[in-house]
Amino acid sequence: MMSEEIEQLNQDLADKRPKDIIRHALEQHGAIAVSFSGAEDVVLIDMAVKIKPDVDIFTLDTGRLHPETYEFIEQVRKHYGIRIDIRTPEQQALQQLVREKGLFSFFEDGHQECCGIRKIEPLRQKLLTLDAWITGQRRDQSPGTRSDVQLVEADSAFQGRNGELTKYNPLALWSSAQVWEYIRLFDVPYNRLHEQGYISIGCQPCTRPTLPNQHEREGRWWWENAGHKECGLHAGNIIEKG
Ligand code: ADX
Ligand code: SF4
Repeated sequence: MMSEEIEQLNQDLADKRPKDIIRHALEQHGAIAVSFSGAEDVVLIDMAVKIKPDVDIFTLDTGRLHPETYEFIEQVRKHYGIRIDIRTPEQQALQQLVREKGLFSFFEDGHQECCGIRKIEPLRQKLLTLDAWITGQRRDQSPGTRSDVQLVEADSAFQGRNGELTKYNPLALWSSAQVWEYIRLFDVPYNRLHEQGYISIGCQPCTRPTLPNQHEREGRWWWENAGHKECGLHAGNIIEKG
């Protein structure tokens, strides 16, 4: 899509509900998938399966998720009777990293290398089979990097099967409160970690619960500079800001 078309589409979708945006996306693209992180983005699955029961859903299993998150992914699979395309890191690259730098290199030289192998490369491979993907990004998740997230974007960080890749963020304009209202209203299963003070959930070693009034993003990669708290899945958020 041309940038004017994307801009127009964002205007057209601005007053639509997330499920209408998901419906629009699923109707527009043959090869499209929902990305599920094992957190409150489960609402995307709840909405999408009601529209298309065999919708393509994938998760990036870094090998370092919390036990609760693995249990939750399994619970979601059974609850909705869906298949989840669970992607794992490429073995050689991972073995080389941990042999050379151990299992916690990210605390010493940053999360980029480990995220690159455990998340970005598997994501890149998956996206090469698609025309579009759907994510749970929201503006309120990170004042630093996500305040500008659009409902529809041209994903310039990755390529789709024919080059062009469209990214839908149906929850972009929703608040955390709206997401949780939906979860309660529709009895959507949720990750047990949310009962232990976790708001944003990523890999176990790189996520911690937040204190009252701390921003959710402060629980992720807390030993690093706030401006860089994107792992590369949503690199466009940083690139576009220059
Ligand atoms: S991250 O870039 O910091 O890890 P975040 O946890 O906020 O992302 O999640 C935002 C959205 O990115 C999720 O709703 C999901 O669509 C996608 N995402 C993040 N982590 C994963 C994952 N492990 N597998 C699949 N999708 C993911
Ligand atoms: Fe590695 Fe941490 Fe990134 Fe997970 S979040 S892939 S453990 S650096």
